[in-house]
Amino acid sequence: MSEYVTLTINGAKVRAPRGTSVLDAALDYGICIPHLCHMQGVIPTGVCRLCIVEVIEKGRSKVTTSCTLEAEEGMVILAHTDKILKARKNIAEMLVAEAPNSRAIQDIALKCGVKDVRYPFRNKDCVLCGRCVRACTEIWRSRSLGFVGRGEQRHVALPFDERPEFCKRCNACIDLCPMTITPCDGPMKKGEEYFCGKCESQLSMSEDFVDSCVWCRLGEGFDVTGRHAGRKQEDKR
Ligand code: SF4
Ligand code: SF4
Ligand code: FES
Repeated sequence: MSEYVTLTINGAKVRAPRGTSVLDAALDYGICIPHLCHMQGVIPTGVCRLCIVEVIEKGRSKVTTSCTLEAEEGMVILAHTDKILKARKNIAEMLVAEAPNSRAIQDIALKCGVKDVRYPFRNKDCVLCGRCVRACTEIWRSRSLGFVGRGEQRHVALPFDERPEFCKRCNACIDLCPMTITPCDGPMKKGEEYFCGKCESQLSMSEDFVDSCVWCRLGEGFDVTGRHAGRKQEDKR
C-alpha cells in the first residue's frame, strides 16, 4: 500500500502521507481552512467546528470537520463553498460573542467575514477548545489539567485547584490558549463589548514563520512581540 494518498481540495491535487487529516493536508498546501481546536500531532476532537468542509461522494455532499477527517485516495473536498463560508461565518460569530477579549478569536472572526455580532457577548475567559488540556496530556504527558463540570459549569481545572508536583512548568497551556496569545490590553467592560478586529494586521504574520498566520498555525511559533521566539526556537532543537 502506498504511503501517500492523493486527494482534491478546492480543485487542487494534494498529496499527503497516509493518515494525515484533510485539514493538515490543506494547510501544508497553503489552502487556508480556519480552525481553532486543532493542533498538529495531537488527537483531534472536532469541538470548535470552524474547519468544516464539504466532502463530495457519488455526487452527494456531506459537511464535516476536516481536522477529524482522514485524507483518503481520490477524496474530493470543497472547503470554501457558499454553504461552508456561511456556516463557518456563523460559527466564528458565535465564538467571538463568547470571548470578545481574545485577539486570536477576533482575528479568526474577521477572516471568516464577520462584520457584526448578532449574539449577546458573554465575555468568557475560556472557549473550551481543549488545546491546553490536550497539550498537557498528549505532548507533555503531565495530565495536570482536565475538564470538570457539565454544560454551563464546564471548565478547565487543576486537581484540587492547585498546581500538582508533576506539572512540568512548560507553559504550553498558556502559550497555546487563544485567550492568552497576545491578549487584548484589558477586558472589555460588561455591556461595552464590541467586534473590533483592528489587530488583524498585527496577528497575521510572524517573523520566524513568514508564511504562517494566527489561524493557520495558532500558537505554533507565532508571537508578535518576539517574547517567546528565542525559547520556541530552542524548544524545536
Ligand atoms: S505548565 Fe503544567 S499544567 Fe501547563 S501544560 Fe505544562 S505541565 Fe500542563
Ligand atoms: S483555557 Fe484556553 S486553551 Fe484551555 S480550553 Fe480554555 S480557551 Fe482553550
Ligand atoms: S473542529 Fe476542526 S479545528 Fe476545531
